[in-house]
Amino acid sequence: MNSLTLRRPDDWHVHLRDGAALAAVVKFTAQRFGRAIVMPNLKPAITTTALAQAYRERIMAALPKGARFEPLLTLYLTESTAPAEIDRARAAGFVHGIKLYPAGATTHSDAGVTDMAKVHGVLARMEELDMPLLVHGETPRPDIDVFDRETHFIDSVLAPLTERFRSLRVVFEHITTAGAVEFVSKARAGVAATITPQHLLHNRNAIFAGGIRPHYYCLPILKREHDREALLGAATSGNARFFLGTDSAPHERAAKESACGCAGMFTAHAAIELYAEAFESVGRLDRLEAFASHFGADFYGLPRHNDTITLVKESWMPPRVYDFGAGALVPFRAGESIAWRLAGT
Ligand code: DOR
Ligand code: ZN
Repeated sequence: MNSLTLRRPDDWHVHLRDGAALAAVVKFTAQRFGRAIVMPNLKPAITTTALAQAYRERIMAALPKGARFEPLLTLYLTESTAPAEIDRARAAGFVHGIKLYPAGATTHSDAGVTDMAKVHGVLARMEELDMPLLVHGETPRPDIDVFDRETHFIDSVLAPLTERFRSLRVVFEHITTAGAVEFVSKARAGVAATITPQHLLHNRNAIFAGGIRPHYYCLPILKREHDREALLGAATSGNARFFLGTDSAPHERAAKESACGCAGMFTAHAAIELYAEAFESVGRLDRLEAFASHFGADFYGLPRHNDTITLVKESWMPPRVYDFGAGALVPFRAGESIAWRLAGT
């Protein structure tokens, strides 16, 4: 197959940042995707509908002229989020989910939740208003091995939560383990998951190949080959519970290449192309469109797009760095080849 035309996809999990960083990266997402669920972990976090509205305007202002891209906003759940904030979010129309960060789990998660009981009132209101909960699924406790944090979270938080709030829609974001695939496959209706390109393409060896490679560090961290295979199986299975969410998370080069480097990989410049590689690796390019362009829209209750994008089988090389405001941004596969190209780029 030398070319592949798909209904326009959406990215159901992306970090667009703010200011000069936003201006540097949003074009990549808008070129490929019709919509994206935009993460709220700014500093300060997007905790209210009013903040989300202002952020939405900044995103729209940063788009290239003529871009047809719709940012779908999220609110950052804190222990002081009021149930009435969910009513405001629902009424606004541009807020499509509420993001749960366990406090300390990842970049800018310190304002997150330490005790789930403190957010039960908000979760109940979300359930009533059918507002999805988007979950960073890790228990960030220092006594729990970093490779086991997702598994611990499923048992201690997610399984009880999906039982307690039986009709709350839940997206288990960027799943990374075979156990998460199994949990989501067997969960009640209304539980889904996003899967990133890096977790489909790499296992944890990538972090340590010949030396320490900070650009392969993200959270949840890459796992074992057995996990990668389970994720690839889920993504290419045709099961509508699994859909595309890149978790593209740009950081300035110095913040990655450091004694304490930040978590996050920037994949937006080649997002759909990387998924095409992953699907092709198991001979399932025929399942890419549903994963990328149907299942997420259906889950969020939004229409599928009517236009298309085309990928061509033509290898290209991302640059070593992109501009990123005052600094530089090292993209995924910098200086290496990518097998598929988005037509027109
Ligand atoms: O690797 C990550 N980077 N994981 C996250 O959950 C957050 C993200 C970021 O914002 O940089
Ligand atoms: Zn993320």
